[in-house]
Amino acid sequence: MSDTALAQDYRSRDWALVTGASDGIGQALATEAAKAGFNVILTGRRTARLEAHAESLRRAHFVATIVLTGDLADPDQAETIWAQAAEGRRIAVLVNNAGLGHLGAFSAQDGWPRETETIMVNVVSATILLKRAVAHMAANGGGRILNVASLAGFLPGPHMAVYHATKAYLLSLSEAVAEEAARDAVFVTALCPGVTRTGFFAADSAEGAHLLNRFLPQPSAAVVAAAGWRAMERNRRVVVPGVLNKAFAFGPRLLPRRVTALVTGILLKRRW
Ligand SMILES: NC(=O)c1ccc[n+]([C@@H]2O[C@H](COP(=O)([O-])OP(=O)(O)OC[C@H]3O[C@@H](n4cnc5c(N)ncnc54)[C@H](OP(=O)(O)O)[C@@H]3O)[C@@H](O)[C@H]2O)c1
Repeated sequence: MSDTALAQDYRSRDWALVTGASDGIGQALATEAAKAGFNVILTGRRTARLEAHAESLRRAHFVATIVLTGDLADPDQAETIWAQAAEGRRIAVLVNNAGLGHLGAFSAQDGWPRETETIMVNVVSATILLKRAVAHMAANGGGRILNVASLAGFLPGPHMAVYHATKAYLLSLSEAVAEEAARDAVFVTALCPGVTRTGFFAADSAEGAHLLNRFLPQPSAAVVAAAGWRAMERNRRVVVPGVLNKAFAFGPRLLPRRVTALVTGILLKRRW
């Protein structure tokens, strides 16, 4: 194909916007988007890593890529990223993946800056992007959204309380918006992974060496991303990859909530 024909081919394709595409599950989801033939917009704070992944997607899958660097702890930057991404482009897929968490006692004052960042990224910016995407997709004939929540969204999480609460919010929001938006052919899926082998816990000073980490299987980011992408393509509302994770997600429905919080607290507190 000539360069001009290739450029026209790129322009005619739909775009997927992936947040947190510099690492872990988001990086693997950006690969899934490119494999599916979407042009990909990659966002995160680490420009060099985003550029390197964008280049590898261009070469391996012959798609166009754009890197938009921004800090989603600042809601204004979420608005800017959306505005830049959607300008003159049809965004057919949003992967709302960027997120972080902090392991530690809720009363510990030194955890607060990270918890504030967690709320801004996992809740505020994720909501802004979801809202913008639903409106854009509804006006453009439809689309798909994958919100990366967590198994944590099903369980109150003593010693990781704010993170679990943000993921419960995102899971609830995702299911409610899915119900509203389906009439406009906008399909919303919540991906709820259990512990996944990424840098997520390494970024936490407490190292995340809790019992859940030790005993739950830890699939790779690629395996989790493939399960999430497949579920999104099938318009599923919620997906929890892995049999044991499903038991952790749905089993507590049969237990008093207090017991669930007690057991989750023990699993999250003890270190090995
Ligand atoms: N790993 C697990 O066990 C697990 C389990 C369930 C759910 N999840 C969820 O999966 C998602 C991805 O996590 P992961 O495991 O892949 O973690 P990760 O390897 O640490 O990747 C996190 C991604 O989020 C981006 N991010 C973090 N803070 C940001 C900020 N302030 N502004 C913009 N981007 C930011 C990072 O990009 P930059 O650093 O370049 O900004 C990075 O690309 C998260 O929502 C997490 O809650 C993870």
